[in-house]
Amino acid sequence: VSLADYNTLRIDACAAWFCRIDSKAALISLLRTPAVTEKGGILVIGGGSNLVLTRDFPGLVLLNAIKGIDVVHQDSDSVMVSVGGGENWDAFVAYSLSQGWAGLENLSAIPGTVGAAPIQNIGAYGVELKDCLVSVSTVELVSGQVRQFDRQECEFGYRDSIFKKAEKDKHIITSVTFRLDKRPTLKLNYGEIRSEMDASRISEKELTPVQLRQLISTIRARKLPDPKVTPNVGSFFKNPVIGKKQLQTILESFPDLVYFPATDNDDVKLAAGWMIDRLGWKGKVLGMARVHSRQALVLTVREGHCEDLLTLAKSIQKDVSAHFGVVLEIEPRIV
Ligand code: EPU
Repeated sequence: VSLADYNTLRIDACAAWFCRIDSKAALISLLRTPAVTEKGGILVIGGGSNLVLTRDFPGLVLLNAIKGIDVVHQDSDSVMVSVGGGENWDAFVAYSLSQGWAGLENLSAIPGTVGAAPIQNIGAYGVELKDCLVSVSTVELVSGQVRQFDRQECEFGYRDSIFKKAEKDKHIITSVTFRLDKRPTLKLNYGEIRSEMDASRISEKELTPVQLRQLISTIRARKLPDPKVTPNVGSFFKNPVIGKKQLQTILESFPDLVYFPATDNDDVKLAAGWMIDRLGWKGKVLGMARVHSRQALVLTVREGHCEDLLTLAKSIQKDVSAHFGVVLEIEPRIV
């Protein structure tokens, strides 16, 4: 089965077996069939928007299409809602806001599915998924057992969770439970939100969560290529986190370096897009791959040429390491 329609880079890799999963019950019975699990491993795909396929997959690809939005509990302040892993992320964000539930507006217009979101703890414009997440329900691939991870157990970090570490490739996320607010507190700390509010002449007092969603969608549409038109996986690298001492060394050569405080300690997060841009990579082409001309952290590719894409990524990593002394880690999943 060709996977070209199931990854946003449109790489035409093939899966030996492919199965679309519509329900948890169907998934469990499938996983309890020995013949299914014994062949070449299992790869779970959601929206395929953070995936680089470098070869055919010899095993079974499971497309997570488990749907459903269920209110588990609510009071006058908040609502707890459980969402199927196969729901489209942005459609759920829009739905939650239409119900008057706030919290996810800063995470508007991110491609992909609800089930994929906790794996890398998606984050944008000053909010991370973990801020609203209560728990993650999974089915363990090897046993078909149902598991639950509360927020603590998910070990969330910047673009990181237990599903990228100890529990990597071991689960399919069947649902995610969120706690959302009926009385919103808007997060407006990200500089670009303020300038967009000024440009649209909206004051903080009158701004609603739905309007904030619109502002953020506008900012994203301006800088980030639509994967449906120009194949890409969003940021190709993580913003590197470094200590204060290393920061001082870099600032001696690059006093205008862009960086932000990292959340939990004294470390800082460098704007990798700024560094790549500063080295002149913006808009550069290598074969079928290209550095996006409005956001240097995003690489795009034509006709699914992942070799060109990875060669381009390597050249950027080498250049950034030579000039800034920092290693850029690739952000999407390479299979
Ligand atoms: N910058 C440049 N040139 C560039 C790109 C960025 O000078 O080509 C500068 C910007 O001017 C800004 C700073 O770098 O001062 C940061 O840029 P931006 O606000 O675009 O955010 P980012 O750090 O490049 C991260 C996330 C994005 C997320 C935005 C907004 C990562 C790896 N990326 O990008 O997430 O949308 O912040 O919060 O953390 C994604 O993960 O796929 C993604 C798009």
